[in-house]
Amino acid sequence: MYPVELSGKTGIVFGVANHRSIAWAIANILHDAGVKLAIAYQNERVRGVVEKLVSDWDDDTVLIECDVSDDKNVEATYQQLETSFGKLDTIVHSIAFANREDLGGEYMKTDREGFTLALDISAYSLIPVVRYAAPLMTDGGSVIAMTFQASERVFPGYNVMGTAKAALENAVRQLASDVGPQGIRVNAISAGPLDTLSSRAISQYRDMKKVAAERSAMKRNITTDEVAKAALFLSSDLASGITGEIVHVDAGYNIMGI
Ligand SMILES: NC(=O)c1ccc[n+]([C@@H]2O[C@H](COP(=O)([O-])OP(=O)(O)OC[C@H]3O[C@@H](n4cnc5c(N)ncnc54)[C@H](O)[C@@H]3O)[C@@H](O)[C@H]2O)c1
Repeated sequence: MYPVELSGKTGIVFGVANHRSIAWAIANILHDAGVKLAIAYQNERVRGVVEKLVSDWDDDTVLIECDVSDDKNVEATYQQLETSFGKLDTIVHSIAFANREDLGGEYMKTDREGFTLALDISAYSLIPVVRYAAPLMTDGGSVIAMTFQASERVFPGYNVMGTAKAALENAVRQLASDVGPQGIRVNAISAGPLDTLSSRAISQYRDMKKVAAERSAMKRNITTDEVAKAALFLSSDLASGITGEIVHVDAGYNIMGI
């Protein structure tokens, strides 16, 4: 429990696949802070896992299936939330996908289909996630997306996902400008390497993690809990003046020259 009180607030977290998901750590910390939560999961295959995870919470967490490859699913998710919660304060977008063959080898071999798919799911999806939520965020609120430093530098193996993260970070800034007048803040957390289902698909992930520990300012890797704590901060009034930012939670890896 951290001294951030969010009772009376409502939120939705997209992207819980299992107990290692960054989204799950964020959902937990928001739940501990008192946020009434909905969890959006990708498909029927994940539902059982998500049901099991939230069973410990002993409350009426709303579970919604939402494959973000179709805007209609996103719209329907918020329609359901309007019925359940009435209004919305916090959104976490913790979603990415690329074909495994596009997460290794030469970037120039990325085909049009793989490129489009990665950008559609990992970057475009933030747009409908904010668009359809905005009318529900009547008291303003916070949107958080998850990114990685490959948006700016080359991390061999991260390939097309680096392009997707560059697009996502740009979308964060443009969306922040769109919804800023409504008091909605949109930020991204740029996390260091963490062992999850998604990171395992990146061919050189092990090297990335090792080098991050060796070269980061703090000479270590980060933990999922550290990302969750940053998300709690960004969701709270403590971050009321922060929007359109990429907040690095990487033990200072990005500031180093060598
Ligand atoms: N793990 C890392 O090292 C790391 C570092 C920085 C950023 N990130 C980012 O964090 C976010 C979460 O990834 P994670 O590492 O927790 O892995 P994860 O595999 O647990 O989460 C990815 C989620 O995306 C969901 N998803 C994929 N396609 C979807 C679709 N069509 N519709 C709805 N949901 C879909 C999956 O179901 C899954 O829940 C991603 O944006 C990832 O790029 C991860």
